[in-house]
Amino acid sequence: MKFFIDTADIDEIRDLAETGLVDGVTTNPTLVAKTGRSFVEVVQEICGVVDGPVSAEVTATDYATMLDEGRYLAGLAPNIAVKVPLTRDGLKTCRALSQAGTLVNVTLCFSAVQALLAAKAGAAFISPFVGRLDDIAHDGMGLISEICEIYANYDFSTEVLVASTRGPLHVVEAAKLGADVVTLPPDVLRKMYSHPLTEKGLAAFLADWEKTGQSIL
Ligand code: E4P
Repeated sequence: MKFFIDTADIDEIRDLAETGLVDGVTTNPTLVAKTGRSFVEVVQEICGVVDGPVSAEVTATDYATMLDEGRYLAGLAPNIAVKVPLTRDGLKTCRALSQAGTLVNVTLCFSAVQALLAAKAGAAFISPFVGRLDDIAHDGMGLISEICEIYANYDFSTEVLVASTRGPLHVVEAAKLGADVVTLPPDVLRKMYSHPLTEKGLAAFLADWEKTGQSIL
């Protein structure tokens, strides 16, 4: 399973990338706006830190302009995945960019039929938003299960990228379903390695080690 980081904060990305656990980054216009920085500058900087796919989202809504924006973004770095919304024009843009060899991440997916369309349009990634579905009392993980089943039935190569994750349990559920990727806010990735029993156990080991008066090096 691949772990992407869902942020445009370069300091967070640098810090987490040092762990060797980060396979890519997803951004969106809201995350870029939070940085207060130039979109292009931020995206290029992220692409220099992480080798894997870095999603950069178009902001036009019509096919012609989305395509122009997508081509421009794809030219910024070899590891860009152009992100397009799951609309009619977004799917047309996905098809055109994918056929030209560009990685496309189709975002804002909230149903299995939408995911089916994205796969047919040649998307490299489909981003179903589980947290936003859970927020309105719909079953976010149920959607992931449906998409994984449908893609497996037809052997689609589109990767299921579980987005809008809210906590470690979303990661566990996504992994049980065999989803290809999860994109995580930095605090969710950090929560994944903390456990109170690990901390308690380590403190006890170190206290006992101290009593021996030894050192390894
Ligand atoms: C995914 O690519 C999106 O950037 C993201 O996961 C949205 O998450 P949110 O619902 O927490 O805004």
